[in-house]
Amino acid sequence: MTTLFENLWNDYVAITPDALTIHNKFSNLSSKPIVNDHIALRTFNDGLISLKHIGEYLAKHGYAEAGEYHFKEKKLYAKHFAHKTDKNAPKIFVSELLLEEFSAELQMFCRGLIAQANWKIKNNGLQLPERHWGKISREAYERLLEESEYAAWLAAFGLRANHFTVSINHLETLNSIESVNQFVKEAGFELNTSGSEIKGSEEVCLKQSSTMASIVDWAFEDGNYPIRSCFYEFAERFAMQNGELYQGFVAASADKIFESTNVAA
Ligand code: NI
Repeated sequence: MTTLFENLWNDYVAITPDALTIHNKFSNLSSKPIVNDHIALRTFNDGLISLKHIGEYLAKHGYAEAGEYHFKEKKLYAKHFAHKTDKNAPKIFVSELLLEEFSAELQMFCRGLIAQANWKIKNNGLQLPERHWGKISREAYERLLEESEYAAWLAAFGLRANHFTVSINHLETLNSIESVNQFVKEAGFELNTSGSEIKGSEEVCLKQSSTMASIVDWAFEDGNYPIRSCFYEFAERFAMQNGELYQGFVAASADKIFESTNVAA
């Protein structure tokens, strides 16, 4: 499992340099390691990369389903997975795009990518992180964007960590989301302000914020082109009535967090 997260992290910071910079700034303030609250993956609801198959893959790594979520407007379904024995293991949030709710054109394009993924997985098994299909064209990316920012991101990047999330509860010095946000902004990074800078509240036992995704020079079929890649998230959890820290997710907040990869947010 350590290797899975190491691979996901190394892949993620390679295309999200802001996350590594912020991570290192947090590390400099603390003698303890930075703990991840969760990571997030995006996928399509078809073929061997569907949420069901990713769930089976995660089960082999000791994870079990721990909650489900619907995002009507973005046409997504999601589940979160928690490690069965290791309480410090990051939770894994997996969402899938409901293809049948989109245009015939989008479906046909994405099912072409899924066919490539099926072929690859039948031969090599499901691997993470990986883009299980070839480069797409810049034009295809632009057309997907018109319908779904999520579909465009997934077609360009594939199955890799869309974000890692720092557990504020485990930070030594910055012990509230307000102080984390202040620190990140003073370091020169832009936060996602969709809805508001802080998503959620103490009442729902979870507060979240995130950077806007880094812009990277990404390789398309027809050359390199700068697009938003991945973002870094920060989560502060609060105790429920029974005194235990809430471990789930709040759909209304996650809905706004998705917009951290929007082109013009
Ligand atoms: Ni998240």
